[in-house]
Amino acid sequence: MKKIAVFASGNGSNFQALVDAEKQGDLQVSIELLVCDKPNAFVIQRAQAAGIPVYSFNPKDYSSKEEFEREILHELANRDIEFIVLAGYMRLIGKTLLHHYVNKIVNIHPSLLPAFPGKDAVGQAIEAGVKVMGVTIHFVDAGMDTGKIIAQEAFPIPPTATREKIEEEIHKIEHSLYPKTLNYLFYQ
Ligand code: GRF
Repeated sequence: MKKIAVFASGNGSNFQALVDAEKQGDLQVSIELLVCDKPNAFVIQRAQAAGIPVYSFNPKDYSSKEEFEREILHELANRDIEFIVLAGYMRLIGKTLLHHYVNKIVNIHPSLLPAFPGKDAVGQAIEAGVKVMGVTIHFVDAGMDTGKIIAQEAFPIPPTATREKIEEEIHKIEHSLYPKTLNYLFYQ
């Protein structure tokens, strides 16, 4: 079974979806660790409830990204983590982690990349008036949401759609697309 760590910064609904899929036998991985850069994030409570170990840290306590990523690396090595899954981790991955996990880090993003990378992708898409939105899963490189695309799913935007409805639809897609795509990546 592939040993993975999930990185998240906030609510963690995608983390929860991965945990649930693993439990139900729909995701053939072992989630060994949650890495979180916000010590008060709700995702930490989700991990504790699921009995998954947490490594949380505050980037402000370090003088550089390299310094805290070296500590993360140490945690990952201690647990033989083979693959990193970003699920709402609001931070660019630096060269320390990229170098050790070449083509072994993936991310999920709430737009049809390469459109609308970065923060508030949904807001950017609404502002642009797009009629089709979606979700992308991609490999992580040094750029902002620029790595090679692995999977995408699109949906049409009805003229009356509210931001709330759009976000609901995005989350629904994310929660099924992420486990499906990881299975495909590991066992295709
Ligand atoms: C998701 O929309 C994901 O695509 C983006 O951040 C959001 C995280 O949501 N990268 P949650 O914390 O998993 O609920």
